[in-house]
Amino acid sequence: MPTARRPRRLRQSEAIRELVREVRLHPSNLIAPLFVQEGDGPPAPVGSMPGVFRLSLRDLAREAAGLAALGIRGVALFPVTPTELKDPQGSEALNPDCLVLRAVAAIRKAAPGLVLFTDIALDPYTSHGHDGVLTPDGSDVDNDPTVSILARMAVLHARAGVDFVAPSDMMDGRVLAIRESLDRQGFHRTGILAYSAKFASAFYGPFREAVGSAQAAGTTGLDKRTYQLNPANPREALADALLDEQEGADALMVKPAGPYLDILFQLRQATRLPIAAYQVSGEYAQIHAAARLGWLDYTRARNESLLAIRRAGADWILTYFAREIAEAGGC
Ligand code: PBG
Repeated sequence: MPTARRPRRLRQSEAIRELVREVRLHPSNLIAPLFVQEGDGPPAPVGSMPGVFRLSLRDLAREAAGLAALGIRGVALFPVTPTELKDPQGSEALNPDCLVLRAVAAIRKAAPGLVLFTDIALDPYTSHGHDGVLTPDGSDVDNDPTVSILARMAVLHARAGVDFVAPSDMMDGRVLAIRESLDRQGFHRTGILAYSAKFASAFYGPFREAVGSAQAAGTTGLDKRTYQLNPANPREALADALLDEQEGADALMVKPAGPYLDILFQLRQATRLPIAAYQVSGEYAQIHAAARLGWLDYTRARNESLLAIRRAGADWILTYFAREIAEAGGC
């Protein structure tokens, strides 16, 4: 059969396929999310996230050192706040001795070189589970009062020694307010990783179980649609993300990752900043669930899901698969 082009020539052996390979994921592209809990109890499994545990401070420090030894450069910390410390204002967020800041200190000691990211949002601390404080009539999250709390929270985290604060709340104007507060207090070196295109997603379900924000709301249907993005709106997502760049963000994030590769790809063309993508709890859970049922090959589905995110333009990937991928040397 006469044909000038035979693309299969480049696919005929493992060695040739490796030579022409375009995208790969290295452990240094990964940021591992870690959950920390009070007390020195054993690791507490998160039911809907096989292999993910809430860790005591001691186990957390050990895990962080282990991840660093595997070549992972960054971890993102999420505290499980005891219910009795939650209130409608999320006051515990401004406690300089709160769990997540003790976790920062513990990791700093155990793994000094690791890049530390902490979430700036009130949902682990509020009794209603929202990312901010509510308006007087309780019908919505109140933007500006929330932003001033977040700016104070960011300064506390910078003082505790985090490398990047990561506002995940989706309030308007929070990146600028945080940047100004950090600079005013002399924290010029503390970076901002902005959760810039964060969608109101059903894929956060397992995470809310892990940190208890769904239970706090007394419902699994915690509705964040007045601040998180509509999954139907790519233009709005791009515009909001670029606003974070203008406001002084050092890196931008798209979240969730797999269902939003178009956003990731477009944002890659629109900015020169590093881009992070968060493969969220539900993306992790669905691969595990299907593999458990024997419906998907676990390793191949896992690697393919991550490669797709990298291919679309992510420099950093936050993923609960981080340890496994690092153990495999990448994918
Ligand atoms: C909230 C926050 C959420 C996640 C990270 N930070 C969930 C939410 O908005 O309710 C989700 C991460 C995941 O699902 O893995 N500030």
